[in-house]
Amino acid sequence: MMEAVLDETEKLYALDKGGMLRSLSLFYQGLREGFEAAEGLEAHLTGDYRALVVAGMGSSAIGGQILGDWLLEDSPIPIHVSRGYHLPKFVDERILLIAVSYSGNTEETLTALEEGFRRGCQVVTITSGGVMERLSVERGIPMVKLLRGMQPRASLPWQLSAIIKLAWRIGLIQSMEDEWEEALGVIDTLRNELAPETPTRFNRAKKVALALKGTIPFIFGPRIFEGIAYRFRTQLNENSKVPASSGSFPEGFHNAVMIREGVEELRRPLSLVLIRDPEGEGRLERKIDAFKSLLEGRVSRIVEITASGRGKLSRILSVLYVCDYASVYLGLLYGLDPSSTDSIKALKEL
Ligand code: PA5
Repeated sequence: MMEAVLDETEKLYALDKGGMLRSLSLFYQGLREGFEAAEGLEAHLTGDYRALVVAGMGSSAIGGQILGDWLLEDSPIPIHVSRGYHLPKFVDERILLIAVSYSGNTEETLTALEEGFRRGCQVVTITSGGVMERLSVERGIPMVKLLRGMQPRASLPWQLSAIIKLAWRIGLIQSMEDEWEEALGVIDTLRNELAPETPTRFNRAKKVALALKGTIPFIFGPRIFEGIAYRFRTQLNENSKVPASSGSFPEGFHNAVMIREGVEELRRPLSLVLIRDPEGEGRLERKIDAFKSLLEGRVSRIVEITASGRGKLSRILSVLYVCDYASVYLGLLYGLDPSSTDSIKALKEL
């Protein structure tokens, strides 16, 4: 019955009042367009930075987090994500600050932008308008202008690829030539598999959504997927309106595994989502198998999402795409509009 709902394409589109499914169909296009939109900005950048700091809230912080995960072992300088009103003390004129706000009106990010500007750091903004656009124009701050009319979380492909372009142009990504085109190819292939028109039996995202229905998802993956696990958690909050938690391995071996010994009534509503990486470190993957065995039968369900591709970026983005779609399908299974964010707006209006 539930499976049938996900295969009634017209009903899905009718329930999806804010058009999240359409936005997801543009994921590949968004990666290409965001990359183009950041073209030429490096002319404003002096290079030789001590760190890259990405300031943003909610979905507008995720691009920085994904970049940081991807380049964790390879970036010659630290990549730091700042979520809040204030920047860390180390941020000065030798820092490249990328301030990201889809709406351009998020109070915390605008405060951080002002702070960075005052401290003399090199600033780039990524926004679709609002106060951030106005400030960027008035002060001559290089800006990547995003298309209006989307939900902030749906603009991630545009934001992320613009950040990737900037990071590449300042010399942080040595593997760009090998990884970027491969990642685009993987996303292009996934487009059809994950689309609403593809029936559940061939559609990984629909299968994940069905498995998670009625549960509270706990999402874990290897360290390079920490941002993706967090993104899935926040997409489940926003698109599916469900509580969720996330973490990464090996850290989870040292704490989360203890759920196993807890009282049954707390464990029963949980589902465990494990991000699996066929290209990952053997000893880590073996321990994830052991973690899974320990929790088998102790939580209501265990769902595995396997990364596609060889390069780290392909693996990260493939899981991101499956999870984004799964969160939208789950919201639709609950009969909710994935795009609605009334409670976030209520707090912003304060
Ligand atoms: O996904 C969302 O709608 C939120 O998480 C927003 O990204 C967050 O509230 C920040 O808003 P903005 O991206 O406009 O700065």
